Amino acid sequence: MAAFGTVFMPKMSCSEFNGSEWSQPSLVASDQLTLHPAAHVLHYSSTCFEGLKAFRHDDGRVKIFRMDRNVARMAQSSRLLSLPAFDEAMLSDMIVETVRAFADEVPEAPGAMYIRPTHIGTEPAVGKAAAPSATSLLYVLLSPVGDYFASGASALRLLIEEEGMRCAPHMGMVKSGGNYASAMQPTLEAKAHYQADQVLFCPNGDVQETGAANFLLIDGNEVITKPLNSSFLHGVTRDSLLTLAKDLGMTVTERDFTVTELLERAAHDDCEAALSGTAAVLAPVGTLIHQGQEHRVGSGEPGPKAQALRKALNDIQWGHAEDRYGWLT
Ligand code: COI
Repeated sequence: MAAFGTVFMPKMSCSEFNGSEWSQPSLVASDQLTLHPAAHVLHYSSTCFEGLKAFRHDDGRVKIFRMDRNVARMAQSSRLLSLPAFDEAMLSDMIVETVRAFADEVPEAPGAMYIRPTHIGTEPAVGKAAAPSATSLLYVLLSPVGDYFASGASALRLLIEEEGMRCAPHMGMVKSGGNYASAMQPTLEAKAHYQADQVLFCPNGDVQETGAANFLLIDGNEVITKPLNSSFLHGVTRDSLLTLAKDLGMTVTERDFTVTELLERAAHDDCEAALSGTAAVLAPVGTLIHQGQEHRVGSGEPGPKAQALRKALNDIQWGHAEDRYGWLT
């Protein structure tokens, strides 16, 4: 299969804000975009996006997972980046209509249709370094996908980074391109020097998240993860997994924890760790690299707790379990 997110459906839903109103959304070609070279987004990174998925059920129907939460987060990101406000119902309709147009192309399990709503500031105005773009473009791309991490079911290697940050601490909850761009150089270096898949950002020892996903520690029957604050992305998958962990009889603890505690717990035989996100789903972590030393997490292999949690999530997404929380559209 092609690399994650490199194949796109030929049309996307698109709506334009002209400074006073949004245009009626329409399906347009998805392989080109006309932008003024001075467009605000190209200079001042006025852009945010979302990642959600549509799944094909055994009866052929197609369901979108937790669209309301992703749309609400996109509205919040837009607000925090001073992009024009949009009607959440309009974006929801754009997502549904785009998925409907390409429903036949939604892969069967274990694949899915990745949905990428994107919002960019389009005003040609390089003088607006400290002022918002008056105009913007909102569009919804679709990409049929499989696994995000090439290692698939094998356990990931994470480099623990205690000095650098993934992004500015007050902007971590914003799903903006700039946050991903700033995590790239550390991730490339971690790959080159330590064959690490991702960097786990832990500024001053505070365990936060990686460049591409949230981090969950599963020690015995307890899931431990950082409580929501502005410094990291409020993952919809994270939220779903914490709900499902409680259903599975696990204890969920949202609290700050340090690298020291993480490494102590990782040494427990039944300890597991995993990365959660729309793309990552729940990807097991087998090794933590800290100050040049490798630490196995539990057995170092994918563990049963993360597997059970991933299955509980996938079962709802693919319609193999009751949608008891009303997560599917
Ligand atoms: C997602 O999980 O949807 C993301 O946006 C992460 C990205 C690295 C693909």
